[in-house]
Amino acid sequence: MRPTLNLLVCVLGLHVLIPTQTQAATDSGPSAIAATESPAQREARIAWWREARFGLFIHWGLYAIPARGEWVQWSEQIPVEEYAKLADEFRPSQFNPDDWAATAKAAGMKYVVLTSRHHDGFALFDDPQSDFTSVKTAAHRDFVADYVKAVRAAGLRVGLYYSPLDWRFPGYIMPDVQRASAEAMRAQYHRQMHELLSNYGKLDLLWFDGGETDWLSFGGDWKGPGWQKRPSDQHYRGGFSWQHEKVHEELRRLQPDIVINGRADMPEDFHSREGAGALGGYDSEHPWELCLTLVEGPWGWQPDCKIRSLETCVQFLVGAAGRDGNLLLNVGPRPDGRIDPPQAQRLREIGEWLKLNGESVYGTRGGPYLPGTYGVSTRRANIVYLHVLHWPTGKLVLPNLPARVLAASVLGGGEAKFNQDGGRLELEMAPAQRREIDTIVKLQLDRAAGPLPVIEVPTAN
Ligand code: GLC
Repeated sequence: MRPTLNLLVCVLGLHVLIPTQTQAATDSGPSAIAATESPAQREARIAWWREARFGLFIHWGLYAIPARGEWVQWSEQIPVEEYAKLADEFRPSQFNPDDWAATAKAAGMKYVVLTSRHHDGFALFDDPQSDFTSVKTAAHRDFVADYVKAVRAAGLRVGLYYSPLDWRFPGYIMPDVQRASAEAMRAQYHRQMHELLSNYGKLDLLWFDGGETDWLSFGGDWKGPGWQKRPSDQHYRGGFSWQHEKVHEELRRLQPDIVINGRADMPEDFHSREGAGALGGYDSEHPWELCLTLVEGPWGWQPDCKIRSLETCVQFLVGAAGRDGNLLLNVGPRPDGRIDPPQAQRLREIGEWLKLNGESVYGTRGGPYLPGTYGVSTRRANIVYLHVLHWPTGKLVLPNLPARVLAASVLGGGEAKFNQDGGRLELEMAPAQRREIDTIVKLQLDRAAGPLPVIEVPTAN
């Protein structure tokens, strides 16, 4: 459940609060569906995803045309029929999923997640029972099919985002009063899931959004004449059910290895943290991923948004890895299908950085040093990588490791002096050898780093 409700809009003549795009990480909400495998089996199934550490999120749909973000229909209260006309204009002349995949690869990303259908209801794939798809409107193209092929061919893992909720159905807002509408929305969800899971070969990842029962009516209840947000410890008690168990059963039957997030009240393989404020704490028990926009702006295309600096992007990437999570970095391609060139350029710069420093990110786990003012740490085999984002003046002094350091070096070349006497680990390095963004000190240990307990780092560091 992730109900951060703080934007006031007018709907049906009443003021309601709607979720903004930045939501804090919370637990995944009620799931009555039992997991069908042991924790060890799950770890084996999601191992590729853990090792990948870095993926590309793509928000693309009709909302790219008005270019005011993917919530434009809702936030500007555009009538369904009017919004639907955008489909007549949606003929992306530069759509080239090979370019998307090449850009993701150049960025050092290992998987891609495309919005197959967002909250506006427009499907980028074929649904024989709906006309509101890219196949039945101006584009006459199954973008999901082309995307899956291209991403697969590039050797990347294939993910799809899907929103069970659909703003075109009043039943989403009033699931009890408008029960028939809510059930029609559910029928669409089940049918479209079936299409996606059956028609595109193997899918590696399904990224649900807005399928939590507690997200119906944006997490509120109609009380008398008003709408009230439910306190976070209270759940929807109405009579509508998404019947997620049916989808879950089919999903595990048709795509047994698929990795899913927790936004549809199913046993989650990983938890979604969302937005720049939600990096959160270290957690090596519950797999998690931070999703973040590359621009300081919405997920869908909007021109003139500031692009986050290379430094910020790297800080988020290693910040996630050091907390034992992934980063899913988002671009919203333009209406013609192109990723905005300056954004693609930033992605390539991240890839250049990863070419030099990727061994401290891919296939690592977070820790053993917990994040602190100094930065974060990652580990694999007999190595601990200290990602020093801020050098203190002078030496970096950390609590000692319960292992002997055999050697210390700086990734990319350079010497780091270390001293383990006196219950501390001291590191010294000439300022000229420090890197601008992230100085990565590679510590070679006398034993495996994985089993070492986590170590708190006092804030002075
Ligand atoms: C949110 C928003 C949405 C965005 C997504 C990405 O819940 O509703 O627009 O697609 O999360 O995490």
